[in-house]
Amino acid sequence: MMAAAKPASAAGPGAAADLSVTIRGMTMPNPVGVASGTFGYGEEYAPLVDLDALGAIYTKAVTPEPRPGNPAPRLADTPAGMLNSIGLANPGLDAFVADKLPLLRGRRCAIIVNVAGKTEDDYLRVVERLDGEAGIDGYEINVSCPNVAHGGLAFGTDPAQVERLTRRLADARKAAPGRPIIVKLSPNVTDLTAIAKAAEAGGADALSCINTLVGMVIDVKARRPTLAMGTGGLSGPAVRPVGVACVYRVSRAVSIPVIGLGGIARADDALQYLLAGASAVQVGTALFSRPETPLEVLSGIRAFMEREGVERVGDIRAMLR
Ligand SMILES: Cc1cc2nc3c(=O)[nH]c(=O)nc-3n(C[C@H](O)[C@H](O)[C@H](O)COP(=O)(O)O)c2cc1C
Repeated sequence: MMAAAKPASAAGPGAAADLSVTIRGMTMPNPVGVASGTFGYGEEYAPLVDLDALGAIYTKAVTPEPRPGNPAPRLADTPAGMLNSIGLANPGLDAFVADKLPLLRGRRCAIIVNVAGKTEDDYLRVVERLDGEAGIDGYEINVSCPNVAHGGLAFGTDPAQVERLTRRLADARKAAPGRPIIVKLSPNVTDLTAIAKAAEAGGADALSCINTLVGMVIDVKARRPTLAMGTGGLSGPAVRPVGVACVYRVSRAVSIPVIGLGGIARADDALQYLLAGASAVQVGTALFSRPETPLEVLSGIRAFMEREGVERVGDIRAMLR
């Protein structure tokens, strides 16, 4: 379900553009969020970015148990991007609730917890435990991490498993049924629309795409891969055209909202995603060099809407010629 929080009639001539995005029971004040794994749980960025001015914070992955992540080196430079094999390093469910969630509670922006695990039951444990916790607005289900040997990728590449997992998670919402289940898709599949439709059939309220693309960098002098894991996930401007094409295809294959990400560094990048069919966007890798990027992207979207006379951000989707 997708609707603007404010009725259309409220936005008359000269009225401020409506930037809000509503998915199920969650309303984001604006469409620009920060991507999972690139913003931690907000604490390091709080002195640099006004968290309340963001549309949403998508947290670093939360798994039932603490995970140290993969061995170093875990990062490599690439042309117009970077390769990472962080491997879902996180403090685990209990520490997330005790130490990270308090800082996020009561924020104006939506708090969306990125959920990961090695088995279906792992994902279920996270959602069931967080169901009774205040301060969470939605869940983003990472079925697409290419870095965990026995985890994410298997889910994200098998439509039947994506559908079953999504249904189990959707049914696990008891105390807070309004929280959307957002399934995050991997571009590392042959037919992305089949996975998108499977998530929708399982009861997903929205999809986000894309996660990173599998890549490898080889240190020629050492004659070995630069990353300890061999391969990693490619992100940054290099993946943007892939992400835009995925959003274009997926948003035409399903009737639930699609959240676009991959290589957004400027307002025009975000507008490409919104024109391609996205209802909202996320900024990831660009945060590492310029933490102010999401707020600049937001003001660029606002300027575009004023210039083009667009009342609601959701109307941009229909403007592609
Ligand atoms: C260092 C790093 C860690 C990431 N960790 C996660 C994660 O825990 N869960 C997840 O769903 N995506 C994770 N991602 C993927 C990003 O959320 C995003 O989908 C991807 O990087 C593409 O967007 P970008 O080009 O704007 O970074 C990570 C990306 C990077 C660069």
